[in-house]
Amino acid sequence: MTDVRPPDSVVSKLFRSEQGGHEQVVLCQDRESGLKAVIAIHSTALGPALGGTRFFPYASDEDALEDALNLSRGMSYKNALAGLDHGGGKAVIIGDPDTDKTPELLRAYGRFVASLGGRYVTACDVGTYVADMDVIAGENPWTTGRSPEHGGAGDSSVLTAFGVFQGMRAAAQVRWGAPTLRGRRVGIAGVGKVGHHLVEHLLDDGAEVVITDVREEAVARIRARHPQVGAVADTATLIRGDLDVYAPCALGGALNDATVPALTASVVCGAANNQLAHPGVEKDLADRGILYAPDYVVNAGGVIQVADELHGFDFDRAKAKASKIFDTTLAIFERAADDGIPPAAAADRLAEQRIAERTPAQEWLRPTAG
Ligand SMILES: NC(=O)c1ccc[n+]([C@@H]2O[C@H](COP(=O)([O-])OP(=O)(O)OC[C@H]3O[C@@H](n4cnc5c(N)ncnc54)[C@H](O)[C@@H]3O)[C@@H](O)[C@H]2O)c1
Repeated sequence: MTDVRPPDSVVSKLFRSEQGGHEQVVLCQDRESGLKAVIAIHSTALGPALGGTRFFPYASDEDALEDALNLSRGMSYKNALAGLDHGGGKAVIIGDPDTDKTPELLRAYGRFVASLGGRYVTACDVGTYVADMDVIAGENPWTTGRSPEHGGAGDSSVLTAFGVFQGMRAAAQVRWGAPTLRGRRVGIAGVGKVGHHLVEHLLDDGAEVVITDVREEAVARIRARHPQVGAVADTATLIRGDLDVYAPCALGGALNDATVPALTASVVCGAANNQLAHPGVEKDLADRGILYAPDYVVNAGGVIQVADELHGFDFDRAKAKASKIFDTTLAIFERAADDGIPPAAAADRLAEQRIAERTPAQEWLRPTAG
């Protein structure tokens, strides 16, 4: 039968997706509250799809769908390498969080999450916060990232920073033969929620720390507490400043055609999502002899934390799981060396291997007999 759908229709995009073939994509609309959302489930091979809800004023509905497809696929890889029994999912709410977000809209969204019966577990992302998750959680038991008062774990940046530090220790092991940053000069771009915790770990470990941030108060807060921390005006100055390690902890796209040739550091390991500006940058880093710890591997502490909420949050249990980021990062560097590929490609291979090895039977969804 001839397919008469236009090649770029939403349906054709889903079924002939070059993004890795999603299991399910749900388009949600609630006229009363004005909710328009996309929930994308990339995979439930390892368990319920887990990933945050982004609230963003997309230029078009197609852009929103594209983002949901890309982000949910990324979550499959991230959750697999974090050792979680979760597949990948992500939701986007189309709108301006500052003007369109209302309790009614969040509740309507929560009911759509409920309608999936546990196939999708949500959390915070850009434009959504712990207080929003508390509202959404009123409609379903599959919402994480809640406040401690609502049974959640609160701010996820504590374990995210801890995990990044573990990844950095693994990189130090490979680069300098010992899992410590003692005596190394580490530059952190972005000292917000994650970056400022990372400063503490590095100082405790005996590293020399230099920071930069576009918000002066963020820099001042750290220097008031730790006067020995150096500060520079901007990221361009930071990366040229004789670093051993560069830790991008601000926005995505930090590693690009302009920054990679200018890096003085021989290790890159930071919290920011999507650090590689485009495919090929991972090879440029490898060609320059720079060891890159893949972002989605080392920044998984946050998702490890929210996943733990589903079992009644236990900080020590979540921290123990996040400490495994050290071993995972080492395994990625080893695989990269064995296969002669950059670490980013090795991470993808290891994630795909874990997903493929798991029986895709969805026991967790099947109602028990009787
Ligand atoms: N918070 C988490 O648990 C978590 C988990 C995984 C990944 N991440 C990622 O880590 C990064 C940091 O997250 P966060 O929660 O600390 O965010 P945040 O907003 O608290 O901190 C980011 C900091 O970067 C600064 N910044 C922005 N642009 C900059 C620039 N051009 N140069 C220097 N500094 C700049 C901001 O002023 C801010 O202080 C983000 O990319 C985020 O997606 C965070």
